[in-house]
Amino acid sequence: MTPGAARWVTLDELRARRSFKWHAQPPDVLPAFIAEMDVTLAPAVARSLVEAVERGDTGYAFPDPELGTAASGFQGERFGWNPDPSGISLIPDVMSGIGAVLRRALPEGGGVVVNTPVYPPFFDHIAAAGCRVVEAPLARDGSGYALDLDAVEAALRGGARAYLLCNPHNPTGLVHSAAELRRVAGLAERHGALVLSDEIHAPLTLAGARHLPYLSLPEARGRGISLISATKGWNLPGLKCAQLVTASEPMRALAASLSPELRFGASNLGVIASIAAYREGGAWLDELLVLIDRNRRLLGDLLAERLPEIGYTPPRATYLAWLDCSALRLGDDPARVFLERGRVALRSGPDFGRSGAGWVRATMATAPETLREIVERMRRAVDAAR
Ligand SMILES: Cc1ncc(COP(=O)(O)O)c(C=O)c1O
Repeated sequence: MTPGAARWVTLDELRARRSFKWHAQPPDVLPAFIAEMDVTLAPAVARSLVEAVERGDTGYAFPDPELGTAASGFQGERFGWNPDPSGISLIPDVMSGIGAVLRRALPEGGGVVVNTPVYPPFFDHIAAAGCRVVEAPLARDGSGYALDLDAVEAALRGGARAYLLCNPHNPTGLVHSAAELRRVAGLAERHGALVLSDEIHAPLTLAGARHLPYLSLPEARGRGISLISATKGWNLPGLKCAQLVTASEPMRALAASLSPELRFGASNLGVIASIAAYREGGAWLDELLVLIDRNRRLLGDLLAERLPEIGYTPPRATYLAWLDCSALRLGDDPARVFLERGRVALRSGPDFGRSGAGWVRATMATAPETLREIVERMRRAVDAAR
């Protein structure tokens, strides 16, 4: 194995970690509920952090212009579009950026469209910004899902003021096409709506799919803002660093009107690690994507063998598996049964919206043997519930 190559970490090593994932549950529970990876750090990222700590560089975050340059360079290399670095600003994390923009741009009670089932904190952060969630559920497309842009259009026609697009989509792993994104931009123009494109999972676009940054479409820029971050791709969510991207004067003015205090929620170590990830972490990310690709196939094999009643469409991006457990008849919230009877913690489907009843989300960024153990525990829970 290449020294420093991306590698999954053993359960013994993981139990020594101090993060939420490894302490939120009793020690006999195997956690696979949160979007965090069981992986080693990219060597370039680790080096940047060790050097920063050795310098004692733990002060407040500096909105380093190099962050914008590095983020833009990465976007250009991976996705073929270099945003102007002067339109990239530091925010502590994606969700606080979304909240700050909604608070500033929408009136009290303004409707925000989301495509359910969707990342649960969207609901709370929209409400905390004084806005209202308007669901435009994804359409079922065979065993998988597709964006239902007719439903989005109906919501905007009905008065919703913004569209929070999850691109790629959590929990389904959908990667939106150029034609879909073009239509979104057209709808935003026609209805005067703001589009917030959450692209946090873009670095985790897997073989066979291609991520298109929303703002790479010129027609999207006048009413679009995107939120990007290195924290999912390189597993740095606790380091608090994300970026808000604008590419037009009106959106730049909106970003400039946000409180300058916002950036002080970011961490200096996050800025330093993100610059290292974007600049020097590309080869490591490629290795990681190979490991995740293997796992999305392995999970399909394991489910076919041990729990064939579960519906699973491998994600095109992310390391998340959105699992239809309704045929198992474990009720609306199968995650409770899996936890109580199998001692494996998955994320409850109903948290993702009404259509999540009967589903669970599993994180599969883990060692193959751990993935096997997750499925075994689910099997055990099903047997115990019968
Ligand atoms: C779609 C999506 N957006 C935002 C976040 C949270 O990002 P942050 O920690 O930067 O707020 C996540 C985390 O899993 C996510 O999946």
